[in-house]
Amino acid sequence: MPDEIIDLRSDTVTKPTAPMRAAMAAAEVGDDTLGEDPTVIRLEQMLADAFGFSAGLFLPSGVMANQLGLRLLVPPGQELLADASSHFLLYEDGGVAWHGGILTRTAVSENGLLDPAVLARLIRPTTPYGTGTKAVAVENTHNAGGGVVYPLATLQEIRRVTREAGVAVHCDGARLWNAHVVSGVPFDAYGACFDTLSLCVSKGLGAPAGTVLLLDADRLEEARVMRHRMGGSMRQTGILAAAAIHAFENHVERMAEDHANAKTIAGVLNDSGLDVGTPETNIVFVQVPDAGKVQAACMAAGVKVSVMAPTTVRLVTHLDVSAQQCERAAFTVAKAVSEAGTQA
Ligand SMILES: Cc1ncc(COP(=O)(O)O)c(C=O)c1O
Repeated sequence: MPDEIIDLRSDTVTKPTAPMRAAMAAAEVGDDTLGEDPTVIRLEQMLADAFGFSAGLFLPSGVMANQLGLRLLVPPGQELLADASSHFLLYEDGGVAWHGGILTRTAVSENGLLDPAVLARLIRPTTPYGTGTKAVAVENTHNAGGGVVYPLATLQEIRRVTREAGVAVHCDGARLWNAHVVSGVPFDAYGACFDTLSLCVSKGLGAPAGTVLLLDADRLEEARVMRHRMGGSMRQTGILAAAAIHAFENHVERMAEDHANAKTIAGVLNDSGLDVGTPETNIVFVQVPDAGKVQAACMAAGVKVSVMAPTTVRLVTHLDVSAQQCERAAFTVAKAVSEAGTQA
């Protein structure tokens, strides 16, 4: 086994830093199921204020935040529009259908970014024969699209089109931080485009767990009941909220380093003859002859990558990998791809 492992499977693999652990140890806590954890309340308020929402709710995971946000906007049997490669459709075990009885209609979009003109054609009213559209889901940055960022103008146009039709918008903002760092769009300008917004603190921000769902205060009580019904109410979670506050205050702007490291990886791979384009944020997709073989060869050389499809591997940069490690990992991947292409 190599001495050093470079883990680029996801930005979820980071471990809390020493100052983050100190903030966690010092956190004031209470019973959050009873609404009495002061640190959780502070985190929810802090993010709601930053993004221009009237309420926030701390949840265990991004999956639960998507499920809950979408179910708040779409009653059972009613329609949700989304890009066909949305995280909540590909990687959440059919949760919105299973838990919420939601009917999802999809559009295939360039890099996962919905086209407002296509949405305008798809949105439909409830009739005696058909369920009406109640919400649209967007994902920013878009994971399966390769970490691409929605232009603010596109989100604003989606907001305009949906508002005219009385349709709500949910944003899976697991990596909205990355979008903000690249685009410079202020948090509240993003917030103004959505009715519900999920913000993961366990990805680029580097906290160990948790997602805050931002929403209108009128929906908070219903959301709290849903959270409890799903088994997502926790107790002294101020320990986790303290990590999230530390991350929000210290780890947002540094994500520019992750984006630079992703570009370094892409540069090495492009120079080796692969065509991976130029990543906008921290995600690099590589098309390879045999993803399983490439993953195994990389692992043997101390580099962990994800297999996203039989011929696709993914590398994600984050807080716990340095520029040098990313460069070394890229050379390892390039070698593994070239060997996979020549082996029987
Ligand atoms: C875009 C996106 N949304 C939601 C999630 C779900 O987050 P979690 O697995 O932490 O629940 C992920 C996980 O990677 C994701 O990439």
